[in-house]
Amino acid sequence: RAADRAVVLIAEELSPATVEALGPDFEVRHCDGADRAALLAAIADADAVLVRSATRIDAEALAAAPRLRVVARAGVGLDNIDVRAATMAGVMVVNAPTSNIVSAAELAVALMLAAARHVSPAHAALRDGEWKRARYTGIELYEKTVGVVGLGRIGVLVAQRLAAFGMNVIAYDPYVQAGRAAQVGVRLVDLATLLAESDFMSVHLPKTPETIGLIGAAELAAARPGLVLVNAARGGIVDEAALYDALSNGRIAAAGLDVFATEPNTDSPLLTLENVVATPHLGASTQEAQEKAGLSVARSVVLALAGELVPDA
Ligand code: MLT
Repeated sequence: RAADRAVVLIAEELSPATVEALGPDFEVRHCDGADRAALLAAIADADAVLVRSATRIDAEALAAAPRLRVVARAGVGLDNIDVRAATMAGVMVVNAPTSNIVSAAELAVALMLAAARHVSPAHAALRDGEWKRARYTGIELYEKTVGVVGLGRIGVLVAQRLAAFGMNVIAYDPYVQAGRAAQVGVRLVDLATLLAESDFMSVHLPKTPETIGLIGAAELAAARPGLVLVNAARGGIVDEAALYDALSNGRIAAAGLDVFATEPNTDSPLLTLENVVATPHLGASTQEAQEKAGLSVARSVVLALAGELVPDA
């Protein structure tokens, strides 16, 4: 390493704007953060590391990084970072909490519409030379009830978009006041009510010990028959085995999934079901979101390495 230049390690593909925003003062290096051995070797020299969601920065990675001062998550969720271990090691953790919220909300709506209208199996059948109109009769969103689970930044954007489709929007979020929900036209309910009343449901929670398995076999059994469920938040919040059973026996009509309990994932049994439309964790994968996330964390890294105050967002 050049003696006078801090090393910024980019451990996942980030927008070109990220490197530009870092400026000329750092030695920028790249590695594949999903390759554990490569990460542990490369992080040894790093003053800052930039990641998306495929790189685990846990106690082991932190221990391998004696010079590290900042972990920058170019996105929202911090479930791949051990924030506590970082804090104990004196390492600052920054993220870009608003960078990709519109993109995530738009993908959730896309999955909901796709699941309601069988876009994915109809497309696959058509490619196979089958013109089957009757087989793919769907349902409208209009005048249906959608339950938004988690009314944070992304949940609110989803609620507003689905309200524009003429849906009745209810939400479950124990951390949100009813008055705040009402401001965005949403009625807050408990989870049991949401399950009983929703024709559609979309999950927008972070992955924490409290939310893992929140929607399990009992919740899916209590859901309205014919529910269409979307999860573009984190895999495992909806229990995958229970969801597989409910989708197989038709109790849950369809699901739109962008996330899996283990990623990458190409062999989940859920992917074998016709009533599942799935994408490989693409919620934040738009030009706009990646540009915003990269810029935001690059600016935070510049400030942090200069010892200056890093604003919240
Ligand atoms: C997030 O939490 O921001 C996303 O999952 C984004 C990503 O994978 O980059």
